[in-house]
Amino acid sequence: MHKLTAPLVLLLALQTAPVLCDEDEMDTDLMQTIDDTTKSVTSNIDLRKKQAADEDAHALQKLLSQVEVFYETRHDKADAVEFARTSLEIANRLQKLLTDKDFEGAARAANELSRSCRSCHDVYKHS
Ligand code: HEC
Repeated sequence: MHKLTAPLVLLLALQTAPVLCDEDEMDTDLMQTIDDTTKSVTSNIDLRKKQAADEDAHALQKLLSQVEVFYETRHDKADAVEFARTSLEIANRLQKLLTDKDFEGAARAANELSRSCRSCHDVYKHS
């Protein structure tokens, strides 16, 4: 139940979300949503719920694009853009693997995605 409604709630949240550009810190709500969605996609892949996993992967692509855009304007944090892009590329690959119904590959990609979050956190997350 929760897993099915989450992507919808997320879409609504995205539409009403304030523009991030005025903020100087990464939005923790955005990160929490990314965290929830990453966990959700992992479990949906495990359960072979293709459609739910698909929706999560789509949501992750949007959310990670927001992270990328956030850092694009911050020239002192150029490598953060790279970290965001790497995560986004993995999400794109994940999406494609799901389209091909390659759940094993998708599970590996989800794992890789979790690790890619940490490479940015190691540098830019201070708590
Ligand atoms: C390009 C950089 C970057 C990437 C990529 C990134 N994060 Fe973050 N994340 C941050 C920063 C910076 C913070 C700290 C925000 C703060 O506390 O002000 C953060 C904080 C968080 C938090 C804590 C939020 C809170 O409530 O304090 C979670 C959870 C999180 N990230 C999950 C993820 C997950 C899961 C991914 C990968 C799918 C990810 N992040 C990818 C930069 C990134």
